[in-house]
Amino acid sequence: MLVLGVESSCDETSVAIVRDGKEVLANVINSQIKIHERFGGVVPEVASRHHVYQVSMVFEEAFKIANVDPNDIDLVAVTEGPGLIGSLLIGVNAAKTFSLMYNKPIIGVHHLAGHIYANAIESEMKFPCIALLVSGGNTELIYMKDHFEFEIIGQTLDDAVGEAYDKVARVVGLPYPGGPHVDRLAHLGNDTYKLPRVYLDDKSYNFSFSGLKSAVINLAHNANQRGEEINVNDLCASFQASVTEVLVNKTIKLANEMKTNNIIVAGGVSANKGLKERFEQYKDSYNICIPSIKYCTDNAAMMAVAGYYQYKKNNQLSDLYMNADASLELE
Ligand code: KG4
Repeated sequence: MLVLGVESSCDETSVAIVRDGKEVLANVINSQIKIHERFGGVVPEVASRHHVYQVSMVFEEAFKIANVDPNDIDLVAVTEGPGLIGSLLIGVNAAKTFSLMYNKPIIGVHHLAGHIYANAIESEMKFPCIALLVSGGNTELIYMKDHFEFEIIGQTLDDAVGEAYDKVARVVGLPYPGGPHVDRLAHLGNDTYKLPRVYLDDKSYNFSFSGLKSAVINLAHNANQRGEEINVNDLCASFQASVTEVLVNKTIKLANEMKTNNIIVAGGVSANKGLKERFEQYKDSYNICIPSIKYCTDNAAMMAVAGYYQYKKNNQLSDLYMNADASLELE
């Protein structure tokens, strides 16, 4: 089964062609990072305009790389939501146009399901499992009994972990998106600032990162006012140690409670080296899946794979009345 994936929920225009939920024939990603860098974050209106400009070219390139005829596509899988509404609309309308032109079935897929199913490309998903979803807009602990059965057990009560990374990066003068830069500098420093581990021993599986973010901001501002220099590498290492300790401990605790040793890590922050290293310590007792970097951040291959499994599970298609939904629920 050849699935055409389309993703445009934020600032990446991406089109992929994937065979049988596994073999990625093409995964073209046009990133707008350079365009939004000078604003220190994604500007929604600018993002949607660039999607309009890029989308046809990205479609063409994907078919060229995959060496596939559009008539051979069996299913179109598109990110229906959540995300920036203007951005989502471009991908959804491009996918619907393709579906109408070539008379192909179409299925709307949840963006976070896409991040989770990025793991099915390089390994086999085993159930039941715990999915730790960490991205720029989400931080969630999800229990999955089987394919496409999502139960959100815990989530952030304020900032998403990627958002906290990006804000901390900005405070210490690193470019957008800050996550990879903080990760890099963290490996050059030590956990000397002893930042709080919010909700580490809390009974719930919720998270909170705004207090930690404020602690970093206050620390930097106070040092600045006193004319003291902060050690940026140590501050990044301290922030990363605090974040990863809470994320990993809670994930392991939930896996134990749910009596499973299958763990999936998903979303842009799953590219974080510190997070991977901390999960490594548990690899003898747990089956831990983390996608390779190219499938961690937004891409259409993961959407094609998720669409494939969603269709296999429910046998239900969308139709051309499908619309983008900026706050689509996963459960
Ligand atoms: O999943 P994603 O591509 O977009 C959505 O939010 O849907 O995630 C982007 C987020 C950004 O906040 C970025 O800073 C973060 O993922 N990120 C990282 C790393 N690579 C990307 N955060 C920490 N360490 C990284 N290596």
